[in-house]
Amino acid sequence: MRATTKLFPSSRTSLPSACLAGCLVLLGAPWLSSALAQSPAPGDIVKRGEYLARAADCLPCHTQGKATPYSGGRPFELPFGTIYSANITPDRDTGIGSYSDDEFVSALQSGVGRGGKHLYPAMPYTSYTLLSRDDILAIKAYLFSLTPARAQAPENTLMFPFNQRWGMIAWNLAFHRDARWAPDASKSAEWNRGGYLVEGLGHCGECHTPRTLAQNVDKSQALAGTLTQGWKAYNITSDGQSGIGGWSDDAIAAYLASGHAPGHSSASGPMGEVIENSLRYLTPEDIKSMVVYLRTVAPIRNAPPITTTVSTAPTGAASLGQRLFASECANCHSWDGTGSQSPYADLVGSRTVNDPGGTNLLAVLIEGAQYHFPRETTFMPPFARGHSNDEIAAVANFVSATFGNNTARVSAADVMKARSPAPALIPTWVISSAIAAALVIALLVLWLLVRLFRPARPQATA
Ligand code: HEC
Ligand code: HEC
Ligand code: HEC
Repeated sequence: MRATTKLFPSSRTSLPSACLAGCLVLLGAPWLSSALAQSPAPGDIVKRGEYLARAADCLPCHTQGKATPYSGGRPFELPFGTIYSANITPDRDTGIGSYSDDEFVSALQSGVGRGGKHLYPAMPYTSYTLLSRDDILAIKAYLFSLTPARAQAPENTLMFPFNQRWGMIAWNLAFHRDARWAPDASKSAEWNRGGYLVEGLGHCGECHTPRTLAQNVDKSQALAGTLTQGWKAYNITSDGQSGIGGWSDDAIAAYLASGHAPGHSSASGPMGEVIENSLRYLTPEDIKSMVVYLRTVAPIRNAPPITTTVSTAPTGAASLGQRLFASECANCHSWDGTGSQSPYADLVGSRTVNDPGGTNLLAVLIEGAQYHFPRETTFMPPFARGHSNDEIAAVANFVSATFGNNTARVSAADVMKARSPAPALIPTWVISSAIAAALVIALLVLWLLVRLFRPARPQATA
């Protein structure tokens, strides 16, 4: 595990000294760009790089819709403007074609790109920092083997002070621990590989770990579950009740490799995308090593037990939820909650029907689900358009009561909110870190103003 990072400069690291250190980092940046690009890599390293880029899931963030893969321009909308991902094909003018090895390594490990450009942590260098130089250069070799795509990513439209990249110097000092994965000699090679994949390449914690008030990842709550993009990334600690401690090794492996664990969940929302674009390409050995590592993540209990018995439908007049389930859902999900259309449509045993917040239950009803998983392409239609908030709430509560632990009590107002989560594409960490950066900048400006306009101290008279 990574050691805990420091929060805002504390009493020991005062704000002025943090600023000074930040300026030194900035002044020191040019030597990074002086290193020369190395000679083209042989085929092996390109293959290895492709695999690593898959494991790190670079593609979806760096591709806009049907545009050339890796040509960037995907918008990350924030309440105060939009950040666009970069073109990372080897085009020299609009992509990363003129990046040297050192500059590329610095972008991934330190969040400082070519020419000392401080990246926003929308680019998860906070996790990639754990990667070895060798692996990062393999990823570079792969990206440099692609056909250069000429595509200028639009300028970011962030408003002041969020557009001040130097704010990231302070943010990095406060939150970013620039350090490689340090193998734990007391653990097996398999465990260490798993940790490298989960904490580094897979950046699972960016979605699954809650953040502190100061908006950095809360290491004491590692992988305990939190909200992201209008979905809940569930607790995946080793806790038997709230996490995945009760799943067999095979079940966890099946989920990661194929998006479905028999008797438990199917992946939808952001996790469906992670499996579709990234985890499904990993070797069985790598999947197994992640399972080995996840087994040892400290258990955290924060969610109720999962029920695996189906309540029989109430007799008498059918409720609105029951009627809707009969007409809209039962075809695919059947009355005993086992997917009749596909095992992916199992409801029984899923956290989604056992979560008191009902977050992903509403999200899947509103957005639907469609993923290309190894065994099949899954499909559930979105219900947002044709159904009222009352109807969606009713069927959600019926599903929780019938197939789950009957803890969800969602209202029409909840459905209304779920229809427009904080702009859909944005990982929460983007917003969080930008706000934290703005705070740091505001404090710096305040400190400078106070320094500048502080009345001169009365001179002591001799
Ligand atoms: C969660 C989304 C996300 C993922 C995953 C991601 N990136 Fe990025 N990346 C971004 C965004 C957004 C930017 C632009 C940041 C900015 O403007 O400060 C960026 C910027 C970059 C840059 C800087 C380019 C420049 O402007 O000079 C490089 C290099 C890069 N990414 C490489 C990668 C590689 C390699 C991977 C996979 C190992 C990766 N990224 C994964 C979102 C992502
Ligand atoms: C982009 C955000 C994101 C990333 C990155 C991510 N996850 Fe998830 N994960 C989610 C969401 C959201 C869910 C809930 C999915 C659902 O309801 O179908 C989830 C669900 C899961 C589950 C199922 C838990 C349950 O109780 O059903 C497991 C296991 C899991 N993730 C493991 C991982 C691992 C391991 C990684 C890193 C390799 C990872 N996730 C990376 C967002 C993410
Ligand atoms: C066309 C078939 C189809 C219909 C109709 C359908 N679903 Fe689904 N549903 C699926 C499939 C397939 C999945 C698995 C998607 C995935 O994760 O890849 C799913 C997933 C779900 C999940 C998440 C399960 C989990 O393990 O996390 C819930 C909850 C759900 N559906 C409820 C409903 C409700 C309620 C309705 C009716 C309003 C409905 N579905 C209609 C096919 C369908």
